[in-house]
Amino acid sequence: MSGVNDIRSTFLNYFKANGHEVVASSPLVPRNDPTLMFTNAGMVQFKNVFTGLEQRSYSTATTAQKCVRAGGKHNDLDNVGYTARHHTFFEMLGNFSFGDYFKDRAIELAWNLITKEFGLAKDKLCVTVYHTDDEAFNLWKKIAGLPDHKIIRIPTSDNFWAMGDTGPCGPCSEIFYDHGDHIWGGPPGSPEEDGDRFIEIWNLVFMQYEQISKEERIDLPRPSIDTGMGLERVAAVLQGEHDNYDIDLFRALIQASVELTGVKAEGERRASHRVIADHLRSSAFLIADGVLPSNEGRGYVLRRIMRRAMRHAELLGAREPIIYRLLPVLVQQMGRAYPELVRAEALISETLKLEETRFRKTLERGLALLADSTSSLAKGDSLDGETAFKLYDTYGFPLDLTQDALRARGIGVDITGFNDAMQRQKAEARANWAGSGDKATETVWFELKEKFGATEFLGYSAETAEGEIQALVRDGAVIETASAGETVQIVVNQTPFYGESGGQVGDTGEIIGEGFALDVTDTQKKGEGLFVHIARVREGSVKAGEPVTLNVDHARRGRLRANHSATHLLHEALREVLGTHVAQKGSLVAPERLRFDISHPKPITAEELKRVEEMANEIIVQNSPVTTRLMAVDDAIAEGAMALFGEKYGDEVRVVSMGTATHGSKAGKPYSIELCGGTHVSATGDIGLVRLVSESAVGAGVRRLEALTGEDARAYLAEQDERVKTLATALKVQPGDVVTRVEQLVDERRKLERELAEAKRKLAMGGGASGGDAPRDVNGIKFIGKALSGIEAKDLKGMADDAKAALGSGVVLLVAVADDGKASAVVGVTADLTERFSAVELVRVASAALGGKGGGGRPDMAQAGGPDGSKASDAVEAVAAALSAG
Ligand code: ALA
Repeated sequence: MSGVNDIRSTFLNYFKANGHEVVASSPLVPRNDPTLMFTNAGMVQFKNVFTGLEQRSYSTATTAQKCVRAGGKHNDLDNVGYTARHHTFFEMLGNFSFGDYFKDRAIELAWNLITKEFGLAKDKLCVTVYHTDDEAFNLWKKIAGLPDHKIIRIPTSDNFWAMGDTGPCGPCSEIFYDHGDHIWGGPPGSPEEDGDRFIEIWNLVFMQYEQISKEERIDLPRPSIDTGMGLERVAAVLQGEHDNYDIDLFRALIQASVELTGVKAEGERRASHRVIADHLRSSAFLIADGVLPSNEGRGYVLRRIMRRAMRHAELLGAREPIIYRLLPVLVQQMGRAYPELVRAEALISETLKLEETRFRKTLERGLALLADSTSSLAKGDSLDGETAFKLYDTYGFPLDLTQDALRARGIGVDITGFNDAMQRQKAEARANWAGSGDKATETVWFELKEKFGATEFLGYSAETAEGEIQALVRDGAVIETASAGETVQIVVNQTPFYGESGGQVGDTGEIIGEGFALDVTDTQKKGEGLFVHIARVREGSVKAGEPVTLNVDHARRGRLRANHSATHLLHEALREVLGTHVAQKGSLVAPERLRFDISHPKPITAEELKRVEEMANEIIVQNSPVTTRLMAVDDAIAEGAMALFGEKYGDEVRVVSMGTATHGSKAGKPYSIELCGGTHVSATGDIGLVRLVSESAVGAGVRRLEALTGEDARAYLAEQDERVKTLATALKVQPGDVVTRVEQLVDERRKLERELAEAKRKLAMGGGASGGDAPRDVNGIKFIGKALSGIEAKDLKGMADDAKAALGSGVVLLVAVADDGKASAVVGVTADLTERFSAVELVRVASAALGGKGGGGRPDMAQAGGPDGSKASDAVEAVAAALSAG
């Protein structure tokens, strides 16, 4: 066993064999603790297990935990590079007992591991205990057989470990390794203890208390164990090295950095290679855990780390971005133990490259300014705060970078002056936006933003997180407290709730604290960076400063994610089917459906819609991962991302890609690439299914589509299916035959209608020319006059024509009486008689008898109506009378 990877697995396997659950490292951004900037010890993920808030299925555990100490209580950033053992990122190996074993077993397990498994010589080891901890002292004596002078009592806080200002804590016992008398230094507690000879390799914390506040400390429910062994340190010992940076893992990274820069890791430049190797690790792991460089909070710490590495690359003479080029070596070294590194490799690489490219532009100018302003300064002097602030503000030099750059020359920085300059600038900025016409109710958000900084959004990777309430707001003003039944707007330092933007509606869910609970009904973004939860107090009363758990409505968010990702797929499919003139004109991503407006000059045909839907579903079935990267906007567009004209983008954009194109020029490349800040599924298959349900117009050249996904789409289709089944039952056919059957029925119906009309006509005319009522002779003229029922007015003329033909010479009057009692009359006169009788006049006579007036047509055929169908036979007689008179 020698390599870092072997040591890690030996440790975990040893504790596994001793009944411990092997638990994966938790993310570097603590989800369960708003007071911590980064996970800084193995016990962080178990904090609530120690305090009894959370139960697990095991009572002992072991981990290799990713840790970053570059902000907050444990901050090693400034020392990194110049010492043998400081790191911003390191791995902590640990074993934990949650009220299971305590001091004796912990000491026994530790001692056996280092002396038996690791084979360290007993005479190279010594330990410390908290000065009052006789129990630990005696146990070391008994179990390890160490002589009294090798069990050193330490009265200081060095032997009392605390996670942070609050949280579990307790006395501890540390194991030291003696690297030999060729190195200067003395055992712990001696005047030479700061030397490098005796190195702490393992800290066993006897967790007994919980620090509730500065003043209050209570007992944990049960005494517990938390241990932490720095993997890099123990690897150095096991590899016969004194310096952590000489272990296999760092050698590989530093070797790569030497090859890239052509500068040996010696003398003055040694520190630069170390800084780069260390900072590459923290940057890569932070980015993999969702932190991206920014000017606030965790993102700013990351930026400081990255820029510090970049300045050291500059010192090594690099003129091009190089740090991202070292990433493959890191992935090769650590990717097996931490697969997240492999998954996020593209994101890390691009983020590093982008930051380095951008920073490089100002770095040289900033360094020139720095050289200029310090040329007359000597060792012990300080750079003025104004210049340090200018370097910060204009050149993007974090304060510690400036300090670091001057460190070798023994020059300090006027921090007070720097802070004053910062305050002045903020005051000016405030004055500016106050005068910019913002509505009074909006200014509160800018004030809060300035006071607390932007809300940290954790919702890309988490739906639950802990946070601390920063402010309560109602009607544009900060309020102290809100109680049950009241509605309030809440700002929390970090949140998994998505604030409405980019068409995606805000998250809902709940916020829970000690003695109170709120229902979040919406989340909005305000004041350029704040996420504001709109909530109703469900119980208790809430005030600022309270720690809370924030739970996003999981099911609703799942639907939102599916709908948002489906929007991207539909967008691309529409462009493929309709053409690249298609651009998004607006969208609404709600939980129950998605709405998508596009530019397109005409209705989208059913065939086109079908193809769009098929294409989108094809990508869903691929179930390919959805990837997110942070890139320069130009690079994103060069890769084919759709950027909308007129939209304002920052320099860095979030790029969401999904699916693999299967044909055309994009074959093998991502199917959809969009700039988007929304939340998405992690693989396209999570969308389940997309179904277009409507297409309509919403203005000139803009079409609106609505679609459903997942369960909503399934339910919609199931309902349609149910309808078909009901139809099939009614039609007494198989569902598959419904269409044929309906077509048949429609044909049959048409045929029957025709036959029915014919039959009625025949019936009405009493057999027509072939028989039936014989015509009357009126004044030598053959006359047929009939009142008909069940005949439609539109058929009268045809029947009158038939009757005329049958008569040869004569006059016909047909009166149809409709169901509502109204009558229609048609008079036909054969051509030979039109000189004597006008059909128009005769029909007017009939109409008058029917209570109507008028009528019109030609001399041989005329039509009229009348309201009183009961007078149909009067009409017949009236016409007969007119004929006999004529
Ligand atoms: N939590 C302890 C430490 O970080 C083990 O040293």
